[in-house]
Amino acid sequence: MKMDNPIGIFDSGVGGLTVAREIIRQLPEENIVYFGDTLRVPYGPRPLPQVKDLVFEIVEMLIERGVKLIVIACNTGTAAGLIEAQAKYDVPIVGVIEPGARGAVQATRNRRVGVIGTVGTIDSGAYSKAVRALDAGVTVYSAPCPKFVDIVEQGMISDANFLRPKTYNLAKAYLTPLLRAQIDTLILGCTHYPLLSALLEKVSGSDAQLISSALETAVEVRTILERRGQLRSGSGAPTYHFAASANVKQFAVLGGRFLGRKISDVELVFVRDVDRGRTVLT
Ligand code: DGL
Repeated sequence: MKMDNPIGIFDSGVGGLTVAREIIRQLPEENIVYFGDTLRVPYGPRPLPQVKDLVFEIVEMLIERGVKLIVIACNTGTAAGLIEAQAKYDVPIVGVIEPGARGAVQATRNRRVGVIGTVGTIDSGAYSKAVRALDAGVTVYSAPCPKFVDIVEQGMISDANFLRPKTYNLAKAYLTPLLRAQIDTLILGCTHYPLLSALLEKVSGSDAQLISSALETAVEVRTILERRGQLRSGSGAPTYHFAASANVKQFAVLGGRFLGRKISDVELVFVRDVDRGRTVLT
């Protein structure tokens, strides 16, 4: 595997670009291929075995494209398929749950940690397990926030929109039980949520510090590539390739905000429509 081969990153949609952004910041010389599964978003309400199949399918697609490492920049995908994917494929695969848990364990002072995420992620118990594996003395309080992904994917992320009373009240309803439990650290257990940081900070006040997985995930990517002697350096400007399974124009516009840089071209990748003839409950 050559060091010029790209890092593959994927999510159900644009959320994983918050992780891609941090990887680009920490590893500015790396080539990147990003795939957003915008045809089949959201993953959160789907049964985990189905999400696992989607993870395997995308991992195989990225391997065919010659990636040297894969980041499942999706908590639901990580909860559903990381461990089995790591066992099944030769390429190193990194998830976002363990890095987020590590960030929270390092940050908490009172050892009361909150986690918010999709229904799939929260019901899997993956964060509680990951936090307790690092420090069994930390108590984890979790809350699913099923409506947040749609709010973000629909682009309702301008200040004016997400501070609308309706969105504010929704966030308040989701977070109140965690704040009552006196958490001092809140894990954003979905890669879409960093885009709602201002809203979440407003609701939680100064009581809880927000932790996203992006920073620690990028550190882990660097460590693995370094160990394998595959860090790219000094061979020209990096390339960033973006692909999505539907709505490529919207992906480019919204994704640009997530990434913090313009996305000018998005490849349309055809994938199985697992919902054809069936309504997905969101
Ligand atoms: N951004 C993803 C996550 O971190 C998936 C959200 C979804 O598709 O429901 O869980």
